[in-house]
Amino acid sequence: MYLETERLILRKFLEEDWKDLYEYLSKENVIKFEPYGIYSEDECKEEAVNRSQNEAFWAVCLKENNKLIGNIYFKQQEPKEFMTWEIGYVFNPLYYRKGYATESSKRILKYGFEQIGMRRIIAKCNPENSASWKLLERLSMRLEGHFKKPVYFKKTIDGKEIWHDCYQYAMLEEEWFDSTK
Ligand SMILES: CC(C)(COP(=O)(O)OP(=O)(O)OC[C@H]1O[C@@H](n2cnc3c(N)ncnc32)[C@H](O)[C@@H]1OP(=O)(O)O)[C@@H](O)C(=O)NCCC(=O)NCCS
Repeated sequence: MYLETERLILRKFLEEDWKDLYEYLSKENVIKFEPYGIYSEDECKEEAVNRSQNEAFWAVCLKENNKLIGNIYFKQQEPKEFMTWEIGYVFNPLYYRKGYATESSKRILKYGFEQIGMRRIIAKCNPENSASWKLLERLSMRLEGHFKKPVYFKKTIDGKEIWHDCYQYAMLEEEWFDSTK
């Protein structure tokens, strides 16, 4: 697990990444649309260990100083013979709007389509998460579904599920190769 772009290195997580992970997973505005709550320092220590043993998590680091600035989730879906992966991403807000999420996600798409024989990639996001679907549009992924309240991640303080809508984006191998012509 090692990929490079002009400004970034994408690599496997290491146990010592917990501090950089804590810098963003401890922030309410970062995890707002995620299926989990904010992480404590101890939870980040545990999470860094878990991620170091899970090939779906890629650490995204700046080449200039090795700082871990975010992560990409890239996981093969079942059944395996469908050759479909899902992508997700969470970045440290100090590094938003510099194109780092776009640059690293593009590299993962290239890796998927050109190195491991991926046939289709999907991504899901809440329509209210405009930063997320704008990124998917920048990646030239295609909106293929708007699902009405299929899931909830969080509950209100009085215990009611907060059902939310979901966009699904996708890209096929042929669309990737057409876009790189
Ligand atoms: C989703 C998320 C990763 C997007 O981050 P981001 O900073 O908007 O994305 P990028 O790093 O690619 O930056 C893109 C922005 O930088 C600008 N930019 C600056 N330099 C750039 C460059 N060299 N290349 C591309 N874009 C560049 C773009 O114009 C764009 O700005 P715009 O939104 O005003 O058009 C981030 O908002 C996040 O981590 N959110 C919290 C977690 C989350 O919700 N994850 C998704 C769950 S579904």
